[in-house]
Amino acid sequence: MKRTLVKDALSCPAPLDAVLLQGWVRTRRDNKTFSFIELNDGSCLKSIQVIADATLPGYGHIEKVTTGASIEVRGKLVASKGAGQTWEVIAESFTVVGEADATFPLQKKGHTLEFLREIAHLRPRSNLFGAVFRVRSRLAFAIHQFFQEKAFVYVHTPIITASDCEGAGELFRVTTLDAKAPPLREDGAVEFERDFFRRSTYLTVSGQLEAEVFACALSNVYTFGPTFRAENSHTSRHASEFWMIEPEMAFCDLGGDMDLAEEFVKYLIRDVRSHCAADLEFFGKFVDKELLPRLDFVLERPFQRCSYTEAIAILETCGKKFEYPVAYGANLQSEHERYLTEEHFKCPVTLYNYPKEIKPFYMRLNEDNRTVAAMDVLVPGIGEIIGGSQREERLEIIRANLAAHKLPEKDYAWYLDLRRYGTVPHAGFGLGFERMLMFVTGVANIRDVIPFARTPGVAEF
Ligand code: 4AD
Ligand code: MG
Repeated sequence: MKRTLVKDALSCPAPLDAVLLQGWVRTRRDNKTFSFIELNDGSCLKSIQVIADATLPGYGHIEKVTTGASIEVRGKLVASKGAGQTWEVIAESFTVVGEADATFPLQKKGHTLEFLREIAHLRPRSNLFGAVFRVRSRLAFAIHQFFQEKAFVYVHTPIITASDCEGAGELFRVTTLDAKAPPLREDGAVEFERDFFRRSTYLTVSGQLEAEVFACALSNVYTFGPTFRAENSHTSRHASEFWMIEPEMAFCDLGGDMDLAEEFVKYLIRDVRSHCAADLEFFGKFVDKELLPRLDFVLERPFQRCSYTEAIAILETCGKKFEYPVAYGANLQSEHERYLTEEHFKCPVTLYNYPKEIKPFYMRLNEDNRTVAAMDVLVPGIGEIIGGSQREERLEIIRANLAAHKLPEKDYAWYLDLRRYGTVPHAGFGLGFERMLMFVTGVANIRDVIPFARTPGVAEF
């Protein structure tokens, strides 16, 4: 007999004479003549109620049907007499597949998120984390759907790379050299020429440079994969390993880039609103009461566009005391970004045209010679979720940029070739997958939207 998922049982149009359900026991309550079992299989937020009559042949084993145990139930799907559910199952037989004793940590509700992080191998069995990871899966699917509908080509960019795209030096080295006795040059430096790849290699911080290669051939492309940053940030929005979506478009400028970013964010919100409605309602009730109104509000309005220069003027004259000083030419801190999106504009904001000094080498120089065609999308509750730019397509200028950033030209020979042969204006951006997930679920800490989070000092499991 084929298994029925709880989600399908609960949305069944008619009663069923024979169903097989498999899952984990959330609770069991005993009466004199029967037991109620709440069975959850992760296919949806809700559990299904199973009624096991004391006259069942296997009822002697009911004591083993405990919270956390896995069981298999055969029976009838019937209309429920109880409130709050349409269907329930009258068991005709049940089997305990795997027992769970009283040490099972998810006995009671109301554990702290910190505690649940320590049991990341069991937390997917809780309502909250089941919902988070179903939404994560749907969001990933919606991302592919968005780009595939627009005929963007999905490119797998390398995870091990030799280049530091963002130039921030936040790289994890990949090496097979003996940590205790690496080969040394005469000057004492490690001889990475004798490493596995005969050079220094790292985990990628971004697939952008390689995505540009493909955009300059296939026109519209995107990457979606893991990226790694050895950045010692202890915040609720930074992870050392996170996923990023990076579209790259040939024959596109900063305006087209900002348009796509806005359309993309709205599409994703709309998709999970309709495909994960029950999970989102749960977040709206138990995680963040403002979540659903906020998401709907974001869908209704255009993102506010504001230049970096205007943003600095707003921050300088707003009268608010910031921990970090505001000054033209400095990077905006998260408190500044959040002030703009949460208090000043009260909606998502696309900031553009940043001073060239604070941005990577690849961004296109504007005519003012001071700013580059960069853009960041900021959203309430999080701050930056997207960073992007129009790329510098002019050979001489990008060579000068490499020099200004003290990056050796020989390492970027292939990148420069894109500007040597058939160069085109092109643009793209990166959306932090986990930050988007935080935004649509209202979950406040990035550690709680990643199955097994990696942050400084933490790489369990
Ligand atoms: O702004 P970033 O560093 O931009 C890039 O990497 C570009 N190469 C993207 C491009 O133009 N193709 O990162 C992009 C986004 C950020 O806006 C943020 O959402 C997310 O990636 N991000 C992080 N998410 C979690 N943890 C971290 N440590 C993150 N660093 C960046
Ligand atoms: Mg950024």
